[in-house]
Amino acid sequence: MDLNELLSSLTLEEKVGQLVQLAGVYYDTSSEITGPLANFEITDTQKYTAGSIIGVSSAKEAYNIQKEYLEKSSHKIPLLFMADVIHGSKTIFPIPLGASSSFNPSLIEKMAKYSAIEAANMGVQVTFSPMADLARDARWGRNMETNGEDPYLNKVLTSSYVRGYQGGELSSDSLLISCVKHFAAYGLVDAGREYNTVDLSKRLLLEQHYPAYESAIKSGSKMVMSAFNTIDSVPVTANKKVLDDDLRNMLGFDGVVISDWAAITELINHRVAMDSKDSAKLSIDATVDIDMMSMAYKDHLVELVNEGVVSMELIDNSVKRILEIKKAYGLFDNPFKNLEFDENFNVDINQVAKEVALESIVLLKNKNNILPMTKNYKVYGKHVSSSDYHGPWSWQGDINDTKSIESKFGDKVVEYRGSDFDLQFFSDVDNVILFIGETSFESGEAKSKTDIRLSKTDVEIIKKLKFAGKNVVACIFAGRPLDLSEINDLCDGIIYAWFPGSEAASAIYDLITGVSNFSAKLSMSLPRTTGQCPIYYNDYPTGRPFDKAIDTYVSKYIDTLNSPLYTFSDGLTYSNVTITDATAKPNKDHIVITCNLENHSDYDCMEVIQVYVKDCISTVIKPERELKAFKKVRIAKNTKSTFEFNLNLEELKLVNNNEQWILEDGDFELYIGLNVNNVIKQKVGVINGICINK
Ligand code: GLC
Repeated sequence: MDLNELLSSLTLEEKVGQLVQLAGVYYDTSSEITGPLANFEITDTQKYTAGSIIGVSSAKEAYNIQKEYLEKSSHKIPLLFMADVIHGSKTIFPIPLGASSSFNPSLIEKMAKYSAIEAANMGVQVTFSPMADLARDARWGRNMETNGEDPYLNKVLTSSYVRGYQGGELSSDSLLISCVKHFAAYGLVDAGREYNTVDLSKRLLLEQHYPAYESAIKSGSKMVMSAFNTIDSVPVTANKKVLDDDLRNMLGFDGVVISDWAAITELINHRVAMDSKDSAKLSIDATVDIDMMSMAYKDHLVELVNEGVVSMELIDNSVKRILEIKKAYGLFDNPFKNLEFDENFNVDINQVAKEVALESIVLLKNKNNILPMTKNYKVYGKHVSSSDYHGPWSWQGDINDTKSIESKFGDKVVEYRGSDFDLQFFSDVDNVILFIGETSFESGEAKSKTDIRLSKTDVEIIKKLKFAGKNVVACIFAGRPLDLSEINDLCDGIIYAWFPGSEAASAIYDLITGVSNFSAKLSMSLPRTTGQCPIYYNDYPTGRPFDKAIDTYVSKYIDTLNSPLYTFSDGLTYSNVTITDATAKPNKDHIVITCNLENHSDYDCMEVIQVYVKDCISTVIKPERELKAFKKVRIAKNTKSTFEFNLNLEELKLVNNNEQWILEDGDFELYIGLNVNNVIKQKVGVINGICINK
């Protein structure tokens, strides 16, 4: 297929059509609606010149649409079918914020691959995933879609998702096209309030936010979704500096930019566009290629070109980029790729979903080793029988297909009555396991909160059981970090399950009873109170750093400690693993990290060896500690092992005040450990770009 010939054969109307994305509802089919749906008038001509469709929920429906489209369209360019396969298609994996707590890049790649395998039998060709936005504020509902608060972990796992979905560079072998989102820095919405303004320095944007999107591009992602928010007071959807200068020219992205849902005409609400026509011009100038459901392109681009306001070249560039990914994906050879439903599909996705759930659920507290629970215990809580374990953005996942906690714990379950229960039901046991926390409807898009505490009912239940002398283990479901301060001292055990997906019950049962061992580490800190938000481990010293010895005129609160209740990298196992003999040896373009781990327990386990870096003196402020390398390893019970891996010297670079990535001379302290606060210090130096021992 010669794309230049194809392009030149298209009329202007047909070219503009390729830049238009419509929801499946306009093709008389069921369709997921994930944004405001106005009552647009869509003509048949517009239906059969649109370039892509969003939200069609089955292969059969997609097949029929494609068939009819190719029959009726004037140019025969196949439609692309796009959807939000965020953490699974029908078999649901843990929410990405949970999966990122696995610190397991190969497992994330496997999760994405199996999501794609299932999506490829459900009529999906493009997934709007991974979300590479850095999360910093627990109040924001979309933390659940992120890889947490650390730029390095985010960068590594974002790349894993793209590799899993596409199998590397986009090709006809790719199961899905991965559309990384939302470029950029959507997680910094002011006050954690959804769709709010984002404002940060270009330096921080380059140093902390762009790397994850760049890693997606380097891993082969050929689609980027522009973010709803502003950067430098210009909405990204109209921000040529961000989308053309930064994304395309600086980061080398040569693929397709798609707007977020209706974001183009929402430029009118931002008051940077006078009307829909003006918003179309601003967005095409900024190189937004596809208009997702705002109709601005459909209604005005032809007119704007005919008036000479928008150049035909600009249109051709966008159309060419769209045709290029359709060709690369093999769509011209097979327009029905992923649209032919296989009745005999029987890949075991659930086993992989359980594997991810087991490595995502975090053990935060285990006083007196109350877990694993083998003693006399009862089970209670609103999530025991709810099966509400998928979390938001669970594509075609149906909780009616998901086994409940009750199905695993059987006769140990006490019927849920909120906090209005009779303690008599627990009179024959010393221990109670509670399944509490958020419902799936309390996080996700447009679900920001001003209060991230547990519900009064959940806290009341814990207090009543505790005052009745019971040992209490709380297993908490959440799409964000929650404030556990009210229950932290009351509980003997705390498990942070996030939303573990289709295999939640099985994974939680195995972890609680000791069939499996915990290994997850928090990828996002849990605040002591909402008032601390945003809070993250990799913060800065300030001019008056907190000092226990000094009571005032230091950076502190008068009513709360500075530290989070639980911090990034917190997570226990049933084992007792010590780390010793950690060393850091410079070797050309990397630093060789070695250490010994000893497992002083009868439980095999996995641990995450982490390397944090502190730039001792730099021309711009740098965090006290930044994760710059990690390795998840297995240590058999009662064994001692030596591990070695590399810290890339590139990771010691910073973005200076001239917005340049540079490796500055000076000393660097390396903190090697199994948790950000439990580390062994090593030191290296850099002189003229060469790393030396210190
Ligand atoms: C939503 C979300 C975006 C999603 C898109 C399509 O508004 O912001 O993440 O991919 O619309 O559903």
